[in-house]
Amino acid sequence: MLAFLSSLPLSSKLSHSAFTPCSSNRSMTSAKPRSACTHPVPAVALASPYVPDLDTYTTLYERSITDPDSFWRDIAKSFVWKDNPGNESNEPVLNYSFTPGSAPGVNVSFLPNRKTNICYNAIDRWVEDPVKADAVAFYCEGNDPGRTRVVTFHELHDMVQRFANVLKNQLNVKKGDVVVLYMPMVPELPVAMLACARIGAIHSVVFGGYSAEALAGRILDSKAAVVVVTESVARASKTVKLKEISDHAIRIAAKSGHDVTYQIVTKTPGKLKVSPSAIEIPQDIEWDVALASADPVCPVEWVDSEHPLFVLYTSGSTGKPKGVVHATGGYMVYAATTFKYVFDYHENDVFFSTSDCGWITGHSYVTYGPLLNGATQVLYEGVPNYPTPARLWEIVEKYKVAQLYTAPTVIRALKGAKAPPPTETNPNPSSADWVNKCDRSSLRVLGSVGEPINPEAWLWYYDVVGEQKCAVVDTWWQTETGGHCLTPLPIPGLPIKPGCAMMPFFGIEPALVNGEGQELKGPAEGFLVIKNAWPSTLRTVYRNHKRMEETYFERFPGFYMTGDGARRDADGHYWLTGRVDDILNVSGHRIGTAEVESALVLHDAVAEAAVVGVPHDVKGEALYAYVSLMSGVEPTEELRKSIRACVRTEIGPFASPDTIQWAGALPKTRSGKIMRRILRKIAKNGPKTQRDDLGDTSTLTDPGVIDMLLSTYGK
Ligand code: WT7
Repeated sequence: MLAFLSSLPLSSKLSHSAFTPCSSNRSMTSAKPRSACTHPVPAVALASPYVPDLDTYTTLYERSITDPDSFWRDIAKSFVWKDNPGNESNEPVLNYSFTPGSAPGVNVSFLPNRKTNICYNAIDRWVEDPVKADAVAFYCEGNDPGRTRVVTFHELHDMVQRFANVLKNQLNVKKGDVVVLYMPMVPELPVAMLACARIGAIHSVVFGGYSAEALAGRILDSKAAVVVVTESVARASKTVKLKEISDHAIRIAAKSGHDVTYQIVTKTPGKLKVSPSAIEIPQDIEWDVALASADPVCPVEWVDSEHPLFVLYTSGSTGKPKGVVHATGGYMVYAATTFKYVFDYHENDVFFSTSDCGWITGHSYVTYGPLLNGATQVLYEGVPNYPTPARLWEIVEKYKVAQLYTAPTVIRALKGAKAPPPTETNPNPSSADWVNKCDRSSLRVLGSVGEPINPEAWLWYYDVVGEQKCAVVDTWWQTETGGHCLTPLPIPGLPIKPGCAMMPFFGIEPALVNGEGQELKGPAEGFLVIKNAWPSTLRTVYRNHKRMEETYFERFPGFYMTGDGARRDADGHYWLTGRVDDILNVSGHRIGTAEVESALVLHDAVAEAAVVGVPHDVKGEALYAYVSLMSGVEPTEELRKSIRACVRTEIGPFASPDTIQWAGALPKTRSGKIMRRILRKIAKNGPKTQRDDLGDTSTLTDPGVIDMLLSTYGK
């Protein structure tokens, strides 16, 4: 039953000598079996870790799997529920069915008979204590160093209540309505999220890098009547005019028959006021003006634990992005609990996540997880390497950050940054000098998220950034899971393997299955599935429950299918091997190949397109597009540019392919399926591609297509 535990090494075996140190093996490439390299972690100076040793983890984990109801009911006691009901032992806690169709409409529920409000749990209960009310919730750090702002819990409470009243009283937003937020990392974004939650409205945050078309698609899918937008924002040395994009999106939505009634505009960070809109949109309302006139007191709306908290669109392997829906109570408990244990957050620590609230990481580990723990954090508006590659480390030093949470792509970019100019005292500088010039002695836990972390990047994070004193936690999870699922905990002395997500968080029972859905035991590689529900399992796909069941439960009934592949080593530890479907991960951004292909074929000159991922040193994966042109169209550089522009318009700049190869035809099977396997190999190896490497090509309609693709490679 507890497959994971039975293969877990005994704690007595976990001496450093049981693992091969790899400090002498820095040049290791990911081509080598990654588990061959383990890196002993010396006792991390955690004052009083919540999980002091592996035995404690094992006991807690075992209980969370054998008796999840009592495990989660106990944890739920530290949250405020309406009238704080007695914890009756026969109360339903975690109910689920991972079999399609067996529970129409609902697959998962958590404490379904209770009511709560996540905003109350994130703010109100802290401000009841006058000392805590004055504690800092957000140290806001602008794009340009020096532009800072501090928001205390009390100020947060005031802003959230006022904005909740604006939504409710001035804009007529009702419980269950969707509000779209298209904003950068300014405090108004978490304020708007929490204000929605306060009145039972559902927020839908759209990442500020998405285009007007993509934003319009999300507005239309959720029929949102209110959009909150920031006028513009500086990102490094560029200005992104979010309001112009949003105006455009609202016009696109109107053409499709959906009118946004109100648009709330927050000012450009650092500016004193919103400039008058170039385009007359009568429903524009200025955030500051609305807040100033709003009633400062807004009682919370107690909602059912299962009431939807938010919808967040994410790419699937087919079709349009799906609106992943999370429910209030379970998401609250799981986001808060993972934050506490995985980052070992203690009072007075300063937490810093570089993720944007446009992604699930920003929902769970900027807005909700930290505030539900009363945490103080840094809210950073900018990018990690502006104005110099020292920026993150300067922030760490300035705020004495204890836990840093970022993505492998950021780590790789900073590791590979151009060295600072030589000085008399440092004639041979290296990129590590950007790090070394800042005091990082406050750091205890270094988190990684979003994509597999290669051991080289892991070791740089551990050795250079953490000076071998911090625990590196590589957290594997997904928009759908709401919180961390596989991750080491910062257990003092636990030898964490570089690039390994190690072990399941409490309540998660991972398994590996083969293509037939049979569970694999012991060391194995296969499709990563989860056998049971945890409190923040996604509840549905917005207005499309059928898609939820098809995507996650149809292929392997009885399991939650993650879409990732993984390997379990002889110690029972999990290594993520990447997606097993047509989803790519570019700089930690999840992009569906189908979405990019649909955007490419919208171009008049494009007849057909296929997109694959190629390994990239910094981004992890880069987009490589094969494009067949309409007959008679000449392939030119200009055309390449305009095809790229089409993707930027449809999705956003981050989805624009790095490479476009002109392809006279695409390799297809007789049934018309594109053989992506071939396209991936050619994109990666070019003319060096070995025929034997391409696998079985006998089902190709036209075997000559391979020669054609090889000869047009790089053209
Ligand atoms: C996909 C989910 C998790 C929040 C941010 C991304 C990949 C995520 C890891 C990791 C290997 C990872 C997976 C997953 N992924 N974290 N630590 N190691 N892969 O959320 O956009 O929903 O993407 O990101 O492929 O399925 P998302």
